[in-house]
Amino acid sequence: MDNEIKTVILVGASGNAGRTILTTFLSTSPFTLSILTRPSSTSTFPPNVRIVKTPWSHSLEAPLSAQKKLIDAAIAASVKRFIPSEFGSNSADVRVPDWVPFLKEKREIVEYLREKEKQSHRLSWSALITGPFFDWCLLVGFFGFDLRTKTATLIDGGAPHLSATNLRQVGLALISILKNPTQTANQYLYISGFETSQREILAVLEKLTDEKWTVKNVSSEELVARGQGLVQKGDFSGFGMLVQAGIFGKMGLGDNRGMGYANEVLGLEKEDLEKTVKTVLGGKLVGQE
Ligand SMILES: NC(=O)c1ccc[n+]([C@@H]2O[C@H](COP(=O)([O-])OP(=O)(O)OC[C@H]3O[C@@H](n4cnc5c(N)ncnc54)[C@H](OP(=O)(O)O)[C@@H]3O)[C@@H](O)[C@H]2O)c1
Repeated sequence: MDNEIKTVILVGASGNAGRTILTTFLSTSPFTLSILTRPSSTSTFPPNVRIVKTPWSHSLEAPLSAQKKLIDAAIAASVKRFIPSEFGSNSADVRVPDWVPFLKEKREIVEYLREKEKQSHRLSWSALITGPFFDWCLLVGFFGFDLRTKTATLIDGGAPHLSATNLRQVGLALISILKNPTQTANQYLYISGFETSQREILAVLEKLTDEKWTVKNVSSEELVARGQGLVQKGDFSGFGMLVQAGIFGKMGLGDNRGMGYANEVLGLEKEDLEKTVKTVLGGKLVGQE
């Protein structure tokens, strides 16, 4: 098959997402894998993986549009598929407000890929929208649940719908995209492991810990004001609050049900909420048990 993909280069393999994606690729995929790192990186990787150093020492996260450089390099190297750094909220959603600037930057990268798709005979792209990484977000406290103090902070009452995916499943989706290049070319692909809400997660946490949790409430408007205040002072932890307000709040940016999931095309099964919460309560991500 002419478009069969055999070799993959992973960028950001030492990051929050990349660590699990790397493990999943090494344990599950048929590809010959290399890792791209910056010269200043002190991250360590398994000895059997080839490491390639970029000539760029600045961070790819700031700004995200540094990915354009990677795309140009990919075209020059006749790469077949580029998967931009999406892996989260739906950057294509036109309702994404100005106060979540990095989603707009992500959308700009896809627009750049669309332009290049017209110009390059070889390069194609797939943008993977996963919703928040369920197990990772619950573990690090991003879902509003403090597992240590058993305190929940519900946004807009905790009822708004949330589509989310465990991090390991994100890795499996990437492998499947690369194994099925024709069906997945030049499009946004939406996946979801769970359809849930903060309230439902709280009920499972209370069941599994056999305890009533302390509940605090916050409105999305309050969170936006707080987040913007922090960002204006140069404290970028405020961005986290802005994203939380968007995806957990009544604005509904965390609800991807209307997008047409690619789970079936990618051979991904729905995940088990209670089993996942149990794993996270044990301090682990799914797949690390
Ligand atoms: N849906 C969710 O819940 C969720 C959660 C987290 C992240 N995400 C998304 O996942 C993506 C990755 O985020 P992350 O949190 O995993 O990132 P991160 O933890 O900040 O990691 C960034 C990675 O990029 C590498 N890097 C930075 N500059 C580089 C350069 N010039 N050349 C080569 N490598 C470079 C870093 O390597 P070294 O430090 O080793 O040099 C590191 O491995 C983003 O799109 C983010 O929005 C989604």
